[in-house]
Amino acid sequence: MEKTFLMVKPDGVQRNLIGEIVSRFEKKGYQLVGAKLMTVSRELAEEHYAEHKERPFFGELVDFITSGPVFAMVWQGNNVISTARAMMGKTNPVDAASGTIRGDFATSVGMNIIHGSDSPESAEREIGLWFSAEEVLSFEKTIQRWI
Ligand code: GTP
Ligand code: MG
Repeated sequence: MEKTFLMVKPDGVQRNLIGEIVSRFEKKGYQLVGAKLMTVSRELAEEHYAEHKERPFFGELVDFITSGPVFAMVWQGNNVISTARAMMGKTNPVDAASGTIRGDFATSVGMNIIHGSDSPESAEREIGLWFSAEEVLSFEKTIQRWI
């Protein structure tokens, strides 16, 4: 079954949106298979966002993601990588449609509430970076076969 890495960023945690965000993915039918509230080291943040190393906002991005606790998660389900991205909305909240997480809760591109893996390769890399094998559970719900 497909898995993706999602993270409530520090702004989402500070704004008490963990429950709201978890609830949206649960209601969609996806299964939470790993989760932890954690602070992020600069080393992990830089590795996670390595693809943006040359971008002018890289320092700001790393400062922000290490500024307070994040809620890191692994979710599982049919097409969860691309569907989660659609549920998150566009990177810049100005362009994010209402009904998406960023469209409903965010106002600036730097503080856009949630991260989600953007491809199967990213999902595999990010799950491995943020979670140990024992932290990602494997359990089956009967209803999973229907949705
Ligand atoms: P993530 O799920 O967080 O990776 O977002 P994304 O995949 O929708 O966007 P992308 O990977 O291109 O950018 C990573 C993150 O960098 C974004 O979520 C933003 O928080 C941040 N970011 C992107 N562009 C800008 C920018 O112009 N200024 C600032 N401050 N941050 C930016
Ligand atoms: Mg990205």
